[in-house]
Amino acid sequence: MNTFTKTAVAAIAALVFIVPSVSAGDLQPGDAASIARGGQLYDKWWKVVKGTEPSGTHAAYPSDAKKEGSTTWRCKECHGWDYIGDKGRYSSGSHYSGIAGLLGLAGGDPAAIGASIRGEPHGFGADLLDDAAIGDLAMFISKGQFDMAPHIVDGNSTGDAAVGEALYATVCAGCHGGDGMKIKEMPPLGEIAGNPQETMHKIMFGQPAESMPALHVFGAQVAADITAYLQTLPK
Ligand code: HEC
Ligand code: HEC
Repeated sequence: MNTFTKTAVAAIAALVFIVPSVSAGDLQPGDAASIARGGQLYDKWWKVVKGTEPSGTHAAYPSDAKKEGSTTWRCKECHGWDYIGDKGRYSSGSHYSGIAGLLGLAGGDPAAIGASIRGEPHGFGADLLDDAAIGDLAMFISKGQFDMAPHIVDGNSTGDAAVGEALYATVCAGCHGGDGMKIKEMPPLGEIAGNPQETMHKIMFGQPAESMPALHVFGAQVAADITAYLQTLPK
């Protein structure tokens, strides 16, 4: 390609305005809130919709896998905090179910994704999740999911803990305390950060039904830097 062609292609690309799948800076303003709510629904949907916690084990949860009860209804239990299901953190151990992740759907058509959530093997009818919730989940799956692989290696965040310390002190410490132990209803943040995939998901999308902020609009590096700092806090 010569310089003129390159300039022309760039100009056309700018005019056409192709929305990339994960760059928060290019999102429509209304999309950001939908994606964050979708991420919280993915975590524990009944808290977000103020619905009833499911009682039995989900019919699609394999009978030889180890969990039972309401947790088997959480999207994260089957598809993973890292969105790669049986290829990621849940490839072994007590959370192993053998079910695939959804990261391959990043950038996909939200309407088609919504139909998959409603359909088999899920049984997520309108009695459980209304159309707005399905729409938010589909937005999260299409535009909120991100690849955690560059940010977590061997269970350690690859982020910059010094940057994370400054972010933590100004964004998180007011609620969680300087040592991450101020909220007594949850384990210390230093302990939770032993699961950096879960921690990054919660920093990016927030905690279901809590006033905690969602930092997705600032990008995954911010979440990785904070996670690196959390991994230095007392357990
Ligand atoms: C009990 C386990 C389980 C739970 C809970 C669950 N899923 Fe699934 N999901 C599956 C299985 C099994 C498939 C079929 C694909 C496969 O076999 O891996 C699937 C497929 C999907 C697909 C289509 C995947 C594709 O590649 O086309 C989407 C989208 C999806 N799930 C979203 C969700 C969302 C959103 C939630 C939470 C509201 C959720 N799932 C909860 C088990 C589960
Ligand atoms: C407005 C207050 C508030 C702010 C600000 C806040 N959080 Fe939270 N956070 C909460 C609450 C409340 C919970 C839920 C506690 C519980 O489980 O009872 C929570 C839960 C969490 C959890 C999940 C805990 C679990 O049990 O799984 C993580 C991880 C977390 N916060 C990290 C952070 C980080 C990192 C920041 C800064 C980027 C932050 N929070 C900012 C209020 C806040």
